[in-house]
Amino acid sequence: MIYLDNAATTAHKPPEVVAAVVRALERFGGVGRGAHAASLDAGLTVFRAREALAHLVGAPGPARVAFCMNATEALNIAIAGLVRPGDRVITTAASHNSVLRPLNRKADEEDCEVAVVPHDACGALDYAALERELAQGARLVVLAHASNLTGDVYDVARVARCAHEYGALLLVDAAQTAGCVPIDMHRDGMDLVAFTGHKGLYGPQGTGGLAVAEHVEVPPFKEGGSGVHSYDRRHPLRMPESLEAGTLNAHGIAGLAAGVAFVQECGVEAIGARVRMLAERFECGIRNISGVRIYGGGGDAGRCGIVAFNVGDEDSAAVADALNEGWGICVRAGAHCAPLMHQALGTCNQGAVRVSTSYFTTEDEVDTAVGAVADIAAEVCS
Ligand code: ALA
Repeated sequence: MIYLDNAATTAHKPPEVVAAVVRALERFGGVGRGAHAASLDAGLTVFRAREALAHLVGAPGPARVAFCMNATEALNIAIAGLVRPGDRVITTAASHNSVLRPLNRKADEEDCEVAVVPHDACGALDYAALERELAQGARLVVLAHASNLTGDVYDVARVARCAHEYGALLLVDAAQTAGCVPIDMHRDGMDLVAFTGHKGLYGPQGTGGLAVAEHVEVPPFKEGGSGVHSYDRRHPLRMPESLEAGTLNAHGIAGLAAGVAFVQECGVEAIGARVRMLAERFECGIRNISGVRIYGGGGDAGRCGIVAFNVGDEDSAAVADALNEGWGICVRAGAHCAPLMHQALGTCNQGAVRVSTSYFTTEDEVDTAVGAVADIAAEVCS
């Protein structure tokens, strides 16, 4: 198997991650639910994971990082908590359905107005349109740090400056960038960052979180056991307990902590350089194949390890199937839960084939994929 679907989830995890999950499964009690050794072991691991993630994303401290299932849940928590009935919210066409659908529900059920800033046919963000939308007022801007379809990375610091100039908060979806693009929410003015654990942080599925700046309060999304203030009628309002209810996925978080340690040891810059190099190698390899069209290139802050393309007029799912059946190459085709970016690129009918690399992808694997695309194109476009 050649796994090139790392933007969906990284399939190859560092051995330390596997070992950390196994260790946790063999020993952990519930985090914050006891003062015995098994509970403290889990609690210390989770606290260290919070510290490491706060450091990784430039959050003010471990207490400002709440764990949840994935970036989707983190985005739902932030949007549900911050957007009030009648509010105006701005997002862009690069947003994933994990942003668009919660916002659309706010529009349908809570009389909110959702403005979508366009991207052009290369995926570039229209900053003039963003300013125009901000000038009409908004409570929140939600930005995909990178498009999950094209891999283009957007200039969050610039968007943060624009948002703050007009009094809006900035929520960043870092699902595709955490672990391969440096994130510093303090330096760049991100008010909230949603991240997932199972992609570029090389942790298990079912892990992720929301980092929240000191000046932002997000009310609880779910309520229940917190392990503290059990006689209070309501869920605590202090982070991180305010955004975490019920027994934490400490087994998964132990794996995530090991994944973050791996990322920090390799270095985010070095990982980013490697996944980009591999993506560029693939893109250069397929660029001149007759019938191949490559999408994106409109990022104003670089790219991550993603290449989106099509072969002639062939349905993207048929190309993905051919790659899988003929060469054992795993890629993602179709709409990628990014309907508005497909509209911008003009690929709604065909979808697109998405190749995405990880630190563990090899140059040989990329070269095999280039050869496979050449063979498919020769057949399809002859
Ligand atoms: N959002 C993930 C992707 O882009 C699952 O594939």
